[in-house]
Amino acid sequence: MGFFNQIEQAPPDPIFGLQAAFNADPRPHKVNLSVGVYKDEELKTPILESVKIAQQEILAWENSKEYLPIDGDPLFIDRAALFVFGEQLWKDLENTIYAAQTIGGTGGLRITGEFLKQEIGPQLYLSQPTWPNHTGVFTKCGMRIEVYPYYDAENKCVDFDRLYAYLEQVPPKSVILLHACCHNPTGADLALEEWDKISDLFLERELLPVFDSAYQGFGKGLEKDAEAVRLFAAKGHEMIVAVSFSKNFALYSERIGALFVVAKSRAQKEHIASKIKPIIRTLYSNPPAHGARTVALILGSPELKAQWEKEVDGMRQRIDTIRTEFAEKLDFQFLLDKVGLFSFSGLSKQQVEKMIADYAIYMTKDGRINVAGLNAKNIDYVVNAILNL
Ligand SMILES: Cc1ncc(COP(=O)(O)O)c(C=O)c1O
Repeated sequence: MGFFNQIEQAPPDPIFGLQAAFNADPRPHKVNLSVGVYKDEELKTPILESVKIAQQEILAWENSKEYLPIDGDPLFIDRAALFVFGEQLWKDLENTIYAAQTIGGTGGLRITGEFLKQEIGPQLYLSQPTWPNHTGVFTKCGMRIEVYPYYDAENKCVDFDRLYAYLEQVPPKSVILLHACCHNPTGADLALEEWDKISDLFLERELLPVFDSAYQGFGKGLEKDAEAVRLFAAKGHEMIVAVSFSKNFALYSERIGALFVVAKSRAQKEHIASKIKPIIRTLYSNPPAHGARTVALILGSPELKAQWEKEVDGMRQRIDTIRTEFAEKLDFQFLLDKVGLFSFSGLSKQQVEKMIADYAIYMTKDGRINVAGLNAKNIDYVVNAILNL
């Protein structure tokens, strides 16, 4: 009897579920390589200094907690757009880009899914493999998911020829989700010449690119990581970009992101705005201000921006250094050209299970590791565990 009696237990989230299992593991030598968060050498995720200063300043002048507009803080949107597109492109395209503040990158993806389903069509192509939440978010929006080939598991690199050949035959007007940089979970990105070829193919075949940009600054640098998005925008694509500031500002819990829909005219931009605003209004009404004000203040202040850029460079350098050390200790050459927090380790599902059960080393079951979970204290333990598998 009752309403809730028949509700069954659903499986935990593949990534946050592992975090919970890690937290509950009593073994003192446990290592967490699973969750998508930057960790410093002490395996902490501290607040950036630039963020601390900005938030103190905001505390001093903020005098109201009034609602923001449906699509967010205009100052944040302008500065986020400058950050993503660069000065010249933003100046050229501002009148044709609809932009909104979102609840992290995930919020932007969810709005994208609702918008696509409602206005463009229910089909979406995701890379094989991809971040598991892509499938979750877009399925909840009622989208039908197809996958396109991306990764060559045997050679541990992007399978560009198969990817290109696949895109040559998808139906025109298909919508394709692309990882702007630091592909999650593989860490394998396209080279700029490959992006260029893909971009031409998208134009020729009338495909709509949806960029998920969650790691700008963690791959090759703040500017370089924007190259794919900027290349597409410069070539005149209609496109969508969902941006997360969770990682590069370490503002994970502030839930701050941005969504850009690049259209062809001001009229199109207005029409898109008129469709997206009701989506936001009915999902969460309007976004929170604190993260947006923090990012806007940092990007708008030359001193704070310089300090923040240094902090991002520091995070990226630690990721690169620890990845190289790990690759060398294991003689895993394939790790050396990967970028961002993640890489596929090449471990099988059974090996991952053994790593968790026998060694308390946690990673997702596809063998993805977050290299920022390694430090000088635990790296040899992890290396030896892998060598003993
Ligand atoms: C590929 C990818 N896209 C989007 C996101 C979402 O980020 P956020 O926490 O800002 O929602 C993540 C976070 O892990 C991610 O890895």
